[in-house]
Amino acid sequence: MTSSPRRVETPPRRMSTLVTRERELDAVRSDAADCRRCDLYRNATQTVFGEGAAKATLMLVGEQPGDAEDERGRPFVGPAGQLLRDVLAEVGIEKRRLYVTNAVKHFKWRPQGKRRIHDKPNWSEIRACDHWLRAELTLVRPRLVVCLGATATQALLGRSARVTALRGKILESPELDQPLVVTIHPSAVLRAGERRREMRAQLVSDLTVARDALRSVRT
Ligand code: URA
Repeated sequence: MTSSPRRVETPPRRMSTLVTRERELDAVRSDAADCRRCDLYRNATQTVFGEGAAKATLMLVGEQPGDAEDERGRPFVGPAGQLLRDVLAEVGIEKRRLYVTNAVKHFKWRPQGKRRIHDKPNWSEIRACDHWLRAELTLVRPRLVVCLGATATQALLGRSARVTALRGKILESPELDQPLVVTIHPSAVLRAGERRREMRAQLVSDLTVARDALRSVRT
């Protein structure tokens, strides 16, 4: 039986780092479960914290949980998540390298008959939730961040940042340790009607930029 010295040496060190990071993330997740930093907790079922690899190379940041996510307590498990998974698979971004979260961790909604209709989070709600997003970024330390839609883009690049002007490029922010790529939100594709193919192609193209950037920064 042969084993290279590198394989023998490396796993324990990597494991302890991974375990530490997972524990730290779990601790922050449990703090976030009681979050009262803004009023959104009042009408939401639960905090929907990020999930995925604690040592992910790529962090995807969405807007806020939707109806399905609010009920299940997990990000991107509804229709937008399904589209996102399809596009990621098409582009060749592996799930095991991902951490998926949202800029805002409670579902903001208004009633319409028996339905709960998504309501866009305002700037003070985005700012209030920044605490959790920054904690996730600090702990996971991804090599690249993808902002899905306007809320994530503004959360990380400032209130005046616009998806249309920024999408599909590798961007730097003085406030972030890693580069970003901005793209449209998968929900925008689902709502696009006749423009659905075109918008989906934009999402594919921007995530391809992210995939290629990740390949170039990988050691
Ligand atoms: N849309 C988002 O931005 N995030 C989710 O988790 C689901 C839908």
